[in-house]
Amino acid sequence: MPVDQKTGVGLLGAGVVGSQVARVILDATDGAASNLTLNGVLVRDINRSREGVPSGLLTTDPEQVLSDDRNDLIVEVMGGEEPARSYMAAAMRSGKHVVTANKEALAKHGDELVGLAADNGVTLSYEASVGGGIPVLAVIQDSLSANRIESIRAIINGTTNYILSSMDEAGSSFEDALEEAQELGFAEADPTADVDAHDAMYKLSILARLAFGASALPDTIHREGIRNIGAKDLRYAGALGYTIKLLAIARSGSDGIRCRVHPALVPNDVPMAKVNGVLNAVELNGDLLGPLWLQGRGAGAGPTASAVMGDVLRIAHGMLGNGGGGKSQTGSPSATNGPPVVGMDDLEVCYYVRLAAIDRFGVLAKIANVFGEGHISIASVLQFDADDERGLADLVIMTHPAREANMQETAARLRQLDVVASLENLIRVEDYDTV
Ligand SMILES: NC(=O)c1ccc[n+]([C@@H]2O[C@H](COP(=O)([O-])OP(=O)(O)OC[C@H]3O[C@@H](n4cnc5c(N)ncnc54)[C@H](OP(=O)(O)O)[C@@H]3O)[C@@H](O)[C@H]2O)c1
Repeated sequence: MPVDQKTGVGLLGAGVVGSQVARVILDATDGAASNLTLNGVLVRDINRSREGVPSGLLTTDPEQVLSDDRNDLIVEVMGGEEPARSYMAAAMRSGKHVVTANKEALAKHGDELVGLAADNGVTLSYEASVGGGIPVLAVIQDSLSANRIESIRAIINGTTNYILSSMDEAGSSFEDALEEAQELGFAEADPTADVDAHDAMYKLSILARLAFGASALPDTIHREGIRNIGAKDLRYAGALGYTIKLLAIARSGSDGIRCRVHPALVPNDVPMAKVNGVLNAVELNGDLLGPLWLQGRGAGAGPTASAVMGDVLRIAHGMLGNGGGGKSQTGSPSATNGPPVVGMDDLEVCYYVRLAAIDRFGVLAKIANVFGEGHISIASVLQFDADDERGLADLVIMTHPAREANMQETAARLRQLDVVASLENLIRVEDYDTV
């Protein structure tokens, strides 16, 4: 396109993120964003007023945005799998670049969307889909491109981090902390996507694709949310020198890439333990660089629009022939032929096991015997609260590194044991001695 021509933008969605993106473009009087023109905005409800977004730009007809020849670039900030995926595909087929914040569509349809970008010679950028305002994808793709990424460890869901932080600080229950997060607007009325870790799983899928070239589809990622974490777990973990965080971890090993999202005990003296509230943090390990730490606001209108607009301006810059832009966040072009994503069975970590056990002589020996038969070595056993009325005591057993498959088998046997009233929780301990 001629250098004096403006870059036309069509926006799909004008909610929290979309309205902010629209305002940034419309309000720009100088600087790079002033070379953008917003031509149309797709919404569901045309009658809802959106501060700073003129109603004349709104439409409920996707074709008015997708087929508008003035649009060089489509920004998708509707969310959800469909129709977002179809709209992005249609935009790229008609030669338009796409910027999106949509983790779900990318995690589930990354191969297809990346393929469409390559086939049609357009750019697909999605920095805002992971870590909100933290520029983690650009760092992986550009700054660390000479490195082989060995591991990623991250707190990439602000809602669950807020809930766990407030449970830790106030000693509150999961239910109370969730209610507080909802009242403050940090959790949705339906918190499933966050607390059951679907959101973190989608983001880890995107990170693993980009960092390892692995086709880490959501169903290959081990996922556990935080509903089962109790105030007692945080209290007992604290007494042992740990806190509990929902971690998203992808690690390269000799057998492939293992991706997992689950609550983990994190030693209190490492930086990850101090990432509190709605903050996000990502720790990357490159073979040349070693560890790199990124921390920032992982959600919200401002941080997310910051990432979206970074992508938009990079593409616009590249279209004007200034170089440096226009490169797709494609990951390995052959992610489907990348390293395999391996399951959990051969993972080796330490475990925290909380049991409600009968409070009498000989019980420990029976429990220790089950661990021994499962080839799991016990590092320590601590007795915490006792329930005198029911004759039960809370036992916390910390193990040495053990194979996941052995631990799960042992957990099943413990649940059957006559001296164990219930296995209350089984939480992996994240190892910070080796990176
Ligand atoms: N919010 C954040 O902090 C954040 C952070 C990182 C990434 N993201 C991602 O950014 C995207 C947008 O999030 P958001 O919080 O801005 O969502 P939102 O507030 O719910 O806004 C969604 C927008 O899309 C429109 N929309 C949804 N489905 C549509 C359909 N079928 N046809 C036409 N319009 C439709 C809605 O129209 P109406 O307004 O008429 O309902 C609304 O304007 C999501 O992919 C999300 O995961 C958000």
